[in-house]
Amino acid sequence: MDNIEAYLDANRLRNQDDLFELLRMASVSTDSQYQADVQRAGQWVADQFRSLGFMTEIVETKGHPIVYAETPPVQGAPIVLVYGHYDVQPPDPLDEWVTPPFEPTIRDGNVYARGATDDKGQMLTHIKSAQAWMETEGSLPLQIKYVIEGEEECGSSNLDPFLQQYEDRLEADIAVISDTSQFAKGQPAITYGLKGIVYFELYLEGPKQDLHSGTFGGAVSNPVNALTQMLGKLVDKNGRIQIPGFYEDVVELEQREREQFAALPFSEDEFKSKLGIEDVHGEQGYTTLERRWARPTCDLNGIWGGYQGEGAKTVLPARAGAKFSCRLVPNQDPDKVRDSIQKMLEELLPPGLKMEVIHHHGAPGVVVSLDSPYMSAAAEAIGKGFGTKPVFIREGGSIPVVTAFRELLGIDTLLLGWGLDDDNTHGPNEKFSLDDYYRGTKASAHLWQEISKIIRG
Ligand code: BES
Ligand code: MN
Ligand code: MN
Repeated sequence: MDNIEAYLDANRLRNQDDLFELLRMASVSTDSQYQADVQRAGQWVADQFRSLGFMTEIVETKGHPIVYAETPPVQGAPIVLVYGHYDVQPPDPLDEWVTPPFEPTIRDGNVYARGATDDKGQMLTHIKSAQAWMETEGSLPLQIKYVIEGEEECGSSNLDPFLQQYEDRLEADIAVISDTSQFAKGQPAITYGLKGIVYFELYLEGPKQDLHSGTFGGAVSNPVNALTQMLGKLVDKNGRIQIPGFYEDVVELEQREREQFAALPFSEDEFKSKLGIEDVHGEQGYTTLERRWARPTCDLNGIWGGYQGEGAKTVLPARAGAKFSCRLVPNQDPDKVRDSIQKMLEELLPPGLKMEVIHHHGAPGVVVSLDSPYMSAAAEAIGKGFGTKPVFIREGGSIPVVTAFRELLGIDTLLLGWGLDDDNTHGPNEKFSLDDYYRGTKASAHLWQEISKIIRG
């Protein structure tokens, strides 16, 4: 591994330049205005694989293409399936970026750009590590299959059909995803649990146009009043979700896990000051890490309706809308939760209003086994790449493909996050530490070595 480490050292700047090239492509998957850049980013990823001589396919879908690549099989060694995404979230609010989102800029050892950590930078570490092997050893010690999609940030609706179609070719022993975070700066982590999600859009419509709130108020249902009343019933002031049956399938945290969370070096004061809040708030009886990692939640993601301009306007708005989502923990069934929310909304709807409910992508939560040779291999590799042994954490975000890999391919996933919680993913000024990009690539190169020692079975 000395050769490979030396290679990564010598090629540090070249690997950064390559990342910057990818970051300059505005591959916003949810907005058709960026279509050409999404295509270019997919092509760019495919070209990386092709330049290494890997069998590469750009798989067209109903949406954005999936890039699939395979390295040659290695007799007796496990097969690893790497998943990542080359698409990114929209960059807005644009005016809050210190430097433009698609002009990668280095400040304080971080690269600032949309997608820097989610997921271009993290994903690329697993390509650059393979490149290091190819260009020093001439081959990899195991077979890697890459699935790099372009629709993760808009619901991955074409991923399941692809996985089904490619099921046989995707045969693997373990999946690897780097699309999460370390526990803290200098403290790498392996994530063994993710939350699931259900996502709603809700529209209410009242009178056929805006009305005078004096002339008609109190006699006609106001869509904004109704919307806030209905949504206000989702969570009580103690952070308990009020959706009927919501907690039925929630598995309580075990004492042992609570102790493990509590033993992590988490400072609530630091957490508060980083977020600019006076106090934390959430479900009574749980710590901040428990709430974030292992308790279900419900959040409004956006709400609109009525007059937003300057000054007062006495109006009874004709319509209102909102987006909201619940994060689920393992064993909660997204379909069941969705149905019970639908029913609750129907019961709460006041007379005289029309309601439309749109259900978006849902996904269950997952926990993966800590007790596997692959976990040990990953811990070993991270220790070598970062110089510090990882801790084991859970995460409040969702990566639905982890469940798909388990259900369809029967394999677990190693969630090896190189990011940090304050990387501003999905917000303005997203960043990724260039040291972590380098260390992540090194850990990835070691991972291929460590996993190759495992006897398949
Ligand atoms: N990389 C994230 C998942 C993630 C979020 C990991 C937070 C660690 C911390 C991924 O790109 C993402 O944004 N997932 C969505 C999934 C959803 C749209 C189904 C999420 O969690 O909101
Ligand atoms: Mn991501
Ligand atoms: Mn994301």
